[in-house]
Amino acid sequence: MTNLHAGILGTGHSYPEGILTNEDLAKLVDTSDEWITTRTGIKQRRKAASDEYTSLFAVRAGRQAIERARLDPSDIDLLLCATVSPDQILPSTGCIIQAELGTNNAAAMDIVAACSGFIYGLTLADSMIRTGQIRHALVIGAEVLTQYVDYTDRKTCVLFGDGAGAAVLGPVDAGRGILSSKIRSDGRYEEQLYSPGGGTRRRPTPETLAAGDHFFKMKGNELFKVAVRSMADISKELLERARITADDIDLFIPHQANQRITEAVADRLHVPLEKVYSNIAVHGNTSSASIPIALDECVESGRIKAGDLVLMTSFGGGVTWGGAVLRW
Ligand code: UT7
Repeated sequence: MTNLHAGILGTGHSYPEGILTNEDLAKLVDTSDEWITTRTGIKQRRKAASDEYTSLFAVRAGRQAIERARLDPSDIDLLLCATVSPDQILPSTGCIIQAELGTNNAAAMDIVAACSGFIYGLTLADSMIRTGQIRHALVIGAEVLTQYVDYTDRKTCVLFGDGAGAAVLGPVDAGRGILSSKIRSDGRYEEQLYSPGGGTRRRPTPETLAAGDHFFKMKGNELFKVAVRSMADISKELLERARITADDIDLFIPHQANQRITEAVADRLHVPLEKVYSNIAVHGNTSSASIPIALDECVESGRIKAGDLVLMTSFGGGVTWGGAVLRW
């Protein structure tokens, strides 16, 4: 074990121009702006046009992150694309992004961990940098979730949006960068959020397509409780491992699943809402893209300053969850 430490050197984000408002959705299903706003905090979400695909946004976000890290694409040794809405089955969206960005010295692949995908990528990249296996990693969370949303199911169609966020990781001085990180999963909760069709178990046929088997299905109410408990518990563990308390945190960036989940987790951690970042009103739930988009918005707006302690935590289908504490 060396004494290398990994931190974020640059961030970026991108999303489609198309906007789907609560009013637009109220014309499609039996819902209202009032219900969506009070139950989720969402007012609008971005929606890709039919000729826009996941890697398009991932490449834009990734290029921005590499530029802001003041690196050349050839400096990237590892490219991880977290996504549950890949461009296609083969090759990985990571490889497609690699070709577009010219990160030709990297190993590229996808991570399928739903909304926790970016934190999964961050944790894996951190480990590989700290052990000296690689020097620089590009971790991207990118989704076109609206492709998998059933616009006749009011329980899910109001939640999800599209976009991508990216971060370049590399070696930093001791005491900075990632102070602690952890990822977990529990496959026994598979059917709380899943998309059963299209793979080898339920193969794509005209019948499965017509039945909407490829759309996301969710038991939102049950997931809500597991999400709050998992994110709060892992955050407490990560704070302890970083030898800090919730009072020390300058900025809390939770996965943007539901404003009520965000507030419940913050409450359990005793983090005041002024320290909590929320963009769910304008983006909805963008799964693996939610944390890196939020992170880059904080960088762009000056909400994160050098030396700040940042706590991030995520939860998603699988179920998967995780988190990280960073000194910016
Ligand atoms: O990012 C991955 C992780 N995702 C999550 O963790 C999501 C967690 N779950 C949630 O965010 C919330 O459970 C939802 C936003 C999905 C749902 O909110 P809820 O307060 O848990 O509502 P509910 O599912 O208990 O439904 C309450 C009522 C039901 O009607 P009845 O049965 O009481 O008559 C639903 O049919 O609200 C109804 N409902 C709606 N009404 C208007 C559900 N969706 C809608 C809707 N518009 N869009």
